[in-house]
Order: sequence, then C-alpha cells, then structure tokens
Amino acid sequence: MKILFLCLGNICRSPAGENIFRDATRKAGIAAQFVIDSAGTEAWHTGKGPDSRMTQTLVSRGVEVTGKARQIKPADLEEFDLILAMDDENYANVKKLDPNGTFAEKIQKFTSYCQHHSETEVPDPYYGGQDGFELVADLLEDGCSRLIEKYST
Ligand code: 4NP
Repeated sequence: MKILFLCLGNICRSPAGENIFRDATRKAGIAAQFVIDSAGTEAWHTGKGPDSRMTQTLVSRGVEVTGKARQIKPADLEEFDLILAMDDENYANVKKLDPNGTFAEKIQKFTSYCQHHSETEVPDPYYGGQDGFELVADLLEDGCSRLIEKYST
C-alpha cells in the first residue's frame, strides 16, 4: 500500500507523518507492506530537510527523521493509494488536481483516522511555539496507529 502525507510546505506536518508512520511500521515488523512519502501543496521549500523544530520533537520521541521537501504533482494521484491531507486548505488544493473526482476516494483528511483526538485538522505549527509541534506529533501518532490497524495485513 502506498500512502502520501500532504501538507503546505512539506517541512513540518507531512514529513512528521511520513516518519512517524515509517517508524511505527518498522517497530511492528511490517514496513515492507508500505511505500510512504510526503509532499507539500507549495514548492517553497523544495529540496530542504524537515524543519529543525519538527525534527527535534520527533527525535525526542525516538523517531528518526529523514526526507527532502517536494511539491505534489498530478502523477502522485495515480501513484498513491491514499493521499492524506493535514488540513482543510491542503485538502481543497489537492482536490483541484482532481477536477473530475477520479481519485476522490483516495484523497482524505488525515484526522479522520484519529481515535483519541477530536481535532478535524492537523494545525500548521510553523509560526507557533513548541506546544504546536507536540500537538502535531500527538495527532500523527494517533492517526498512524489507526492507519496501521486498518491497512496492514
Ligand atoms: P507544513 O508547515 O505545511 O506543515 O510544512 C509550514 C511550513 C512552511 C510554511 C508554512 C507552513 N511557510 O509559510 O513557509
């Protein structure tokens, strides 16, 4: 199964999702079942590694952080089985790449997988403090455990 995590800049939320998901599948011994990647709706940070505050938050939770930012492209909609948007804006923007609704089923909000949080978006932490990065990591850990439960075999 191929899963693409999607946010705005691809340096905070979606690389965190990608790395938290990969870490959880490795620890469960099921990493080979998944192809995991992340992208941003914007190209502002293309080629850059994840934001140091996001990296530090994950490293303190024992999660290795890798990746280089890239912008989502139309071919990603064909390639991936699930495209998980972090917030309503990311969701609306990826929907614009699918004007005929061909890929409607696979484009979803990440928070629909959260079982222990009622947030309907993973909030953009970029201009805020450490508590925002911790909330991002909490939401991602929550939803990723449900994703694994639902899609691993
Ligand atoms: P992300 O966070 O979408 O979670 O990667 C952001 C990263 C950069 C900016 C905004 C949000 N920015 O304005 O550059």
